[in-house]
Amino acid sequence: MLINIPFVNKKQPKETIGVPEDSTPEHIAIIMDGNGRWARNRGLPRIAGHKEGVSSIVKVVKAAVKCKVKILTLYAFSTENWKRPKSEVEFILRLPKQFLDVYLPELISNNVRIQVIGDMELLPDYTRDAVQYAMDRTRHNDGLQLNFALNYGSRHEILKAVKEMLADINDTKISVEELDEQQFSKYLYTKDMPDPDLMIRTGGEQRLSNFLLWQSAYSEFWYTDVLWPDFSEREFLLALDDYRQRNRRYGGLSK
Ligand code: FPP
Repeated sequence: MLINIPFVNKKQPKETIGVPEDSTPEHIAIIMDGNGRWARNRGLPRIAGHKEGVSSIVKVVKAAVKCKVKILTLYAFSTENWKRPKSEVEFILRLPKQFLDVYLPELISNNVRIQVIGDMELLPDYTRDAVQYAMDRTRHNDGLQLNFALNYGSRHEILKAVKEMLADINDTKISVEELDEQQFSKYLYTKDMPDPDLMIRTGGEQRLSNFLLWQSAYSEFWYTDVLWPDFSEREFLLALDDYRQRNRRYGGLSK
């Protein structure tokens, strides 16, 4: 059973948020790393770190709602994570249901919309059914869009997009001439979403690990040594504050 942390303190005064709404990144993506090390540091099995990692998800979603972030994408399970021991894979893939069983009502009342990016076909029924139910229940919400990347891998996503695009070219639905970056983006799981403005990675590593390769072309990166289970609203706001200092030029020159 997961610890039930109150989801949103609606009475929180705005001044404590620390980042003015207008410079808050629209889309934040997070690589949640360090669960295993967090557990090992405490002499616990790795799965204890994943379980504790759910508490950080609750804190970050709560902070994102408060800061009026539009999209939060969390890398929960990659196409490469199947290489882990079966028991660990099963434990991680049971967490979405456990999380949603406890928090879905609060997510709904906070106008959160749940989405999944990744290949849901290969997910076990207990994961797929839980997230599908949450997606159906929240599809009309227009507050924070919370994307869980589940069985997600960027190379797989890009290859799938290329295959679907070639099929559409073959069926003359689109022509090679009209193909551009915008057209191509429509074949990705993230179609209809803006690219991430800010990419956060916890746990001290500084790599993308097959996450949103196409979409992060101009994302701002923020790394921290803090392990994911220790990540809280404080670090989230630090990342947002740091983002505010960045000068995004997209290959052009400063204004
Ligand atoms: C990486 O840390 C973490 C994962 C592969 C799993 C992340 C999953 C969660 C935080 C929970 C998902 C739950 C929901 C509700 C979607 P690691 O195990 O690679 O850590 P290490 O580098 O210290 O070994």
